Amino acid sequence: MALIFLIGYRGTGKSTVARLLADRLAWRWLDADQVLEDRFGRSIRQIFAAEGETGFRDKESLVLRELCGLDRHVIATGGGVILRPENRALLQASGKCIWLTADARTIQQRLQQDTTTAERRPNLAQGGLAEIVELLQTRQPLYESCANFTIDTTCHSPEEIVAIISSQQEHSVQDG
Ligand code: S3P
Repeated sequence: MALIFLIGYRGTGKSTVARLLADRLAWRWLDADQVLEDRFGRSIRQIFAAEGETGFRDKESLVLRELCGLDRHVIATGGGVILRPENRALLQASGKCIWLTADARTIQQRLQQDTTTAERRPNLAQGGLAEIVELLQTRQPLYESCANFTIDTTCHSPEEIVAIISSQQEHSVQDG
């Protein structure tokens, strides 16, 4: 299947890895959040403010359906795409899902350093470390149920992660 989805919580490096992995495979890459913002002409924060999380999730599902029709693409998905069962079914049916993980403190540090956090990542619960810990716990089984394989990004650079994924890809091709 010529679609790879990077799934995982905010701040696990999905977009950076998607870009590097696509380069390595000579495929294209897309950030699903960016596609959504371009399509609707508003930032995620603005969509959350105007329509709430449900309005955002409806748009996210719509964009996912479109992205699933692509070929030879690496897609960095939004961290909550796995919340809806129909999205999980679509991800699994349309390509290979790679789950990028990191511990809660690492995620918090990365989000604080990312200048796009304010516009892209409105609070989903109480905010801060407590939100990360709580949502990681509730989402873990959902990421797990989609993942073809998992990489802990805490101790790896994006380049190392791409090398791990590439060797996995080669094995899965050899194994048929
Ligand atoms: C979300 C993650 C964000 C974005 C939105 C909701 C989530 O994407 O889709 O703020 O529910 O975890 P990133 O994972 O790219 O930050």
